[in-house]
Amino acid sequence: MTNDTNNSAAQALPVRIIGSSLAVSALGFGAMGMSEFYGPSDDIASIKLLHEVAERGVTLIDTADLYGRGHNELLIGEFLRARRTLYNAGGLKIATKCGIERTTGGTPPRRINNSPEYIRSCCEASLKRLDVDCIDLYYIHRVDPAIPIEDTMDCLAGLVQEGKIAQVGLCEVSANTLGRAHRIHPVAALQTEYSLWSREVEDEILPMTQALGIGFIAYSPLGRGFLTGCLTQTDTLAEGDFRRANPRFQGDNMIHNLILLDTMRDMAARYGATPGQVALCWLLAQGDNIVPIPGTRRSAYLAENLGAASLTLASADLALLSETMTPHAVHGARYSSEGMQGINA
Ligand SMILES: NC(=O)c1ccc[n+]([C@@H]2O[C@H](COP(=O)([O-])OP(=O)(O)OC[C@H]3O[C@@H](n4cnc5c(N)ncnc54)[C@H](OP(=O)(O)O)[C@@H]3O)[C@@H](O)[C@H]2O)c1
Repeated sequence: MTNDTNNSAAQALPVRIIGSSLAVSALGFGAMGMSEFYGPSDDIASIKLLHEVAERGVTLIDTADLYGRGHNELLIGEFLRARRTLYNAGGLKIATKCGIERTTGGTPPRRINNSPEYIRSCCEASLKRLDVDCIDLYYIHRVDPAIPIEDTMDCLAGLVQEGKIAQVGLCEVSANTLGRAHRIHPVAALQTEYSLWSREVEDEILPMTQALGIGFIAYSPLGRGFLTGCLTQTDTLAEGDFRRANPRFQGDNMIHNLILLDTMRDMAARYGATPGQVALCWLLAQGDNIVPIPGTRRSAYLAENLGAASLTLASADLALLSETMTPHAVHGARYSSEGMQGINA
């Protein structure tokens, strides 16, 4: 139990090791919402918040070339120019991704492309936008079923050899693909959705990362905001917000899923914490190799989220959460059939 969950500024964040050697804060920061998917954002406020992220001791920032068609990487590039000393001293690690190509006016509006030429051109573009010589962690955002993972890993290993990327990561891959990839070149991190309401990875994929010494970067660890308890109505969301069309946030699914939050709310009240902190604390307790990367555009939420690192839940409470929020209990798929998909290869 803690009484300091809302005042994380003074507390150093614990460190976790990703793969064999990448040391990062136990909670990273997801920058996606600063460019796209959750409604409008403001660049000046985003840069200010990124500085606060660094000041609060977060050392892993997550982006992708996809987010805002390069806008998110440009923002981080601008921020890094102002934080060169910290960055050069190794106090900030930037993870970005490639492999989803945006089509103009196409249906669907994106396609997966893992051709070596495309990966190489994306890497060069990301290096420029981020304004760095080497990307600390470079993920394939979605695996291309048309290209053997071995060929993709050969390409990424080449980028490591050339010093353009330091570590390799994959997103949303099956245990089989992860094992095959790791045999060609060490995979430092797997990034996949994981939270109290997205637990499919627990059967095979999470244990596999633990057996192979691969870091597990848990994306959407707050269930895209749902697990904070602040989001109760989809129709109040901004036009174009991704969640307006996400099955879990729709009609009867949403009504049903909201009831599942009652246990979290009661527990949070008992600990003097918030439901979001309980959700992040539960995630951190699922394995030492897990680094959640909650995203926000607001300073108050950032402080609250980082406060989760100071919270300790009793094992009986961790178990109660696991029993309440089972994959069967949650209604609605993680992605709509038209949206970017989850584990696909
Ligand atoms: N590899 C992939 O395919 C993939 C997919 C999705 C995301 N990601 C990465 O994972 C990161 C995090 O995931 P995410 O942003 O989708 O979901 P998330 O971190 O689970 O939730 C973000 C949402 O929760 C809200 N929020 C954050 N902290 C809150 C708090 N304390 N109280 C109330 N609301 C709060 C945010 O609101 P505000 O924005 O209004 O502050 C935002 O709408 C992304 O930024 C991105 O880097 C990767």
